[in-house]
Amino acid sequence: MRKAQTAAKHIALSVQGRYADVRNDYDKVASTYDEYYSHNLAAAAERFTTLLPWEELERPSLRVVELAAGTGAITRRLADAVSVDSVLTAVDISEGMLAENQAKVRAEGQQVEFVVGDALEYLAAQPTDSIDALICAWGVCYMSHAKLRRELGRVLKSGAFIGIMENRKGTLKELEAVLLDVLMADAKLLRRAVKLDLPTDHRYIARRIAPDGSRVETGFDGESSRVVTNVDSIVEYVTKSGVSAGYLDAIEPDLFDQVIQGLRERIETAGPRNVPIVHRYSVVTARR
Ligand SMILES: C[S@@+](CC[C@H](N)C(=O)[O-])C[C@H]1O[C@@H](n2cnc3c(N)ncnc32)[C@H](O)[C@@H]1O
Repeated sequence: MRKAQTAAKHIALSVQGRYADVRNDYDKVASTYDEYYSHNLAAAAERFTTLLPWEELERPSLRVVELAAGTGAITRRLADAVSVDSVLTAVDISEGMLAENQAKVRAEGQQVEFVVGDALEYLAAQPTDSIDALICAWGVCYMSHAKLRRELGRVLKSGAFIGIMENRKGTLKELEAVLLDVLMADAKLLRRAVKLDLPTDHRYIARRIAPDGSRVETGFDGESSRVVTNVDSIVEYVTKSGVSAGYLDAIEPDLFDQVIQGLRERIETAGPRNVPIVHRYSVVTARR
């Protein structure tokens, strides 16, 4: 009965367009994101970045765009590669995440144009056939895929490089099941609806996000799995890494501690070994 009430409330919030704001959640984890998310997914990020066309990125006068650039693990690699007369733009909706990125880029003495804002609004403001390479790691789940595909088809030059990496459906399902169990237990806990659009696999990204007529260079599904044996570390990962962005802002602020306590108790009961942290992700690189 309680689950049905929460489900009904979630539907009502969705219909009213009252969605959680991921910006708030990412602003809150900006200072801890690298220690948790970037650290945990370093091997996946490395696997992705080896597929970027590094020699080509050194050519003069390119426009290179990184969407959902976050704290900049990939931004700094790109900034190292591009030539001085190219323009590298890092776009992110979270001011906090981009501030971390900017501080690190400054410390390296690199040149990057930073834009705080929504990725799709940014693309909509760009001229047709104006971008030579577009990279987006762990960000397309927050965007309308149809709109992104349309804009990519318009703004990318013929032959432009596209690199996308994203968690796919079923990612973190063990952890999500526990969190949902807590949230579904009481409709009062929810104040906003959760809206995430995870791709099903790399084929989905190639078909539904890469623009019409793209030539896929690489596509694969990967997994990064870790068993954490202590409850505190799992709860810390939930609250400090950004993996729950879009969920945490959906929780009634006065009841936030109650949710975290419920999460802790359920992980203790299940046994932390039975709540592994498994990121399931997909990668596509393609040419427009
Ligand atoms: C998981 S982080 C990925 C950050 C970075 N790309 C990396 O590899 O670490 C997701 C990022 O997407 C950003 N984001 C979410 N929705 C966005 C949107 N509509 N437009 C631009 N950035 C967005 C968040 O603020 C956050 O920095």
